[in-house]
Amino acid sequence: MSMQIWILTLHSHNQLYCVPMCRYYLNNRADPEVFRANQLFSRLKPHEIYRFHSSLPEYRRTPLQSLPNLAQSLRIGQLWIKDESYRFGLNAFKGLGASYAIYKRVQQLLVRKGLAKYDPSDSVQRDFLAGLTFCAATDGNHGRAVAWMAGLIGARAVIFIPDDAAGQRVEAIASLGAEVRLVEGSYDQAVSEVAREAAVNRWEIISDTSTVGDRETAVAISGGYLTLFREIDEQLAQLNAKRPDFLVIQAGVGALAAAAGWHYAKDEAPKLISVEPVQAACLLESASTADQSLKTAAGNLTTIMAGLNCGTPSPVAFDIIKDSFDLFVAIGDEYAEQGMKMLYQPQGSDPKIESGESGAAGLAFLLALEKSGSLKGLRKLIGMNQESSVLLISTEGITDRLNFNRILTKSRA
Ligand SMILES: Cc1ncc(COP(=O)(O)O)c(C=O)c1O
Repeated sequence: MSMQIWILTLHSHNQLYCVPMCRYYLNNRADPEVFRANQLFSRLKPHEIYRFHSSLPEYRRTPLQSLPNLAQSLRIGQLWIKDESYRFGLNAFKGLGASYAIYKRVQQLLVRKGLAKYDPSDSVQRDFLAGLTFCAATDGNHGRAVAWMAGLIGARAVIFIPDDAAGQRVEAIASLGAEVRLVEGSYDQAVSEVAREAAVNRWEIISDTSTVGDRETAVAISGGYLTLFREIDEQLAQLNAKRPDFLVIQAGVGALAAAAGWHYAKDEAPKLISVEPVQAACLLESASTADQSLKTAAGNLTTIMAGLNCGTPSPVAFDIIKDSFDLFVAIGDEYAEQGMKMLYQPQGSDPKIESGESGAAGLAFLLALEKSGSLKGLRKLIGMNQESSVLLISTEGITDRLNFNRILTKSRA
C-alpha cells in the first residue's frame, strides 16, 4: 500500500509550490529467504569485523540510552536511542564502514603487490601506503570517515562533496588532512565526479553505493556497520532488556539499512522501518514499484537531512533491504527539526542527546506518526502500542552548528 499526498502552499514570493507530505509503503513482499542466500553479504564475518574495529585506538562502544519520559509522551513502552555522535571522535556512525572497507582494500592491494599482511610497523608497507590515494563522494559524514582512516594508515584522501554542503562539514573533512573538492550539484553528481577522477588518476574509490566502485567495497561498508548492531545486542543483554519490537533506520543510499536487514535476518527480528526525506525517498519509491526495481527519487533533493539526501539507492544494499524491511516512510524536514530540539532539550530525567538533522530522523518518524494526517492509522496498521519497545539510532551529532542554532531558536512549528 503506497500513499502519496501533495499540498499546494503559497510561499513568500507569492509562488505556488507543491509540498509533498509524509507518505509510506507497507512492504508485505519482504522475503528473508531471498536475501539470506546473498553471495556477497554471506561472505561477511561479523566477529572478524568486530575484532578489526576493536583493534583501532579510538574504539569504544557508543552509548545506548533509554528515554522513558519521551517514550511516555509518544505512547510507547520503551524508547532506546543509540548515540553515534561518540563514534571514533567523528560525530557520526560512518567511521565503522569506511575503516573496514579501507582495511579490506589495503589487504587486497598488499597481496597484489606481493607484500605481507597489513603491518603498520613495516616501513616498506608504510611507503607503499603513502603513495595511495583514497577518494569518496559524500554529503559530509562518509567523507570525514574516509579522510580519517586514510590519515590513520598514512595514505592520502580526496573527498568530493556538493558545493552547497555546510561549511562545518567541509572543514571537518579538511581538518583531517584530506583534499576537499566541491562539486556543483547534488550528492549523486559528486558520485559521478568521483568515478571520473578516480579513473583518470588511478585512485582507490571507497564508495558506500555500488553505483560506482566495486560491489565488494559497498558491501564491506555495510559489513562495518554490523559492529553497531552487535553492540546493541550486547548492551541490551547486559541490561536484561528484550530485543526491540521496532527498529527505525534513516536511509540515504541504504548501506546502514542493509546492515540492519542482514543482522536481524533471524526469527524474532524487530520490525524494520526505513525513514527518508520526502524529497529524496528513493528507497520507498523503488520498493513500491511493481517489480521493486531501482528508481531515482522523484523529489527535488532539497532537505535539511543532508546525509539522507540521495537520489538513487545502492544496488547491493537494496537487494537486502527490499526483502527485509517491513515499512518505508518519507517524512518532512519539520519533523527532523522537532526531533533535534526534543533530544537536545529532554523531558525530566531523560538524557540529553546532541543529534543532527539526519541523526534525529528516527524520532522525526515517531513524531510524524503522532502528528501527520497522512500517516493517520499507520501506528495501528504496524501494531505499535503502549507496550512497544522502539529503538532509534541517532546516527550523527551536530554537524552543522549554524543550522542547529537556527532550529533551536525558531519558535515551535
Ligand atoms: C548521519 C547519517 N545518517 C544516516 C545516513 C544514511 O546512511 P546510508 O547512506 O548508508 O543509507 C547517512 C549517510 O550519509 C548519514 O550521514
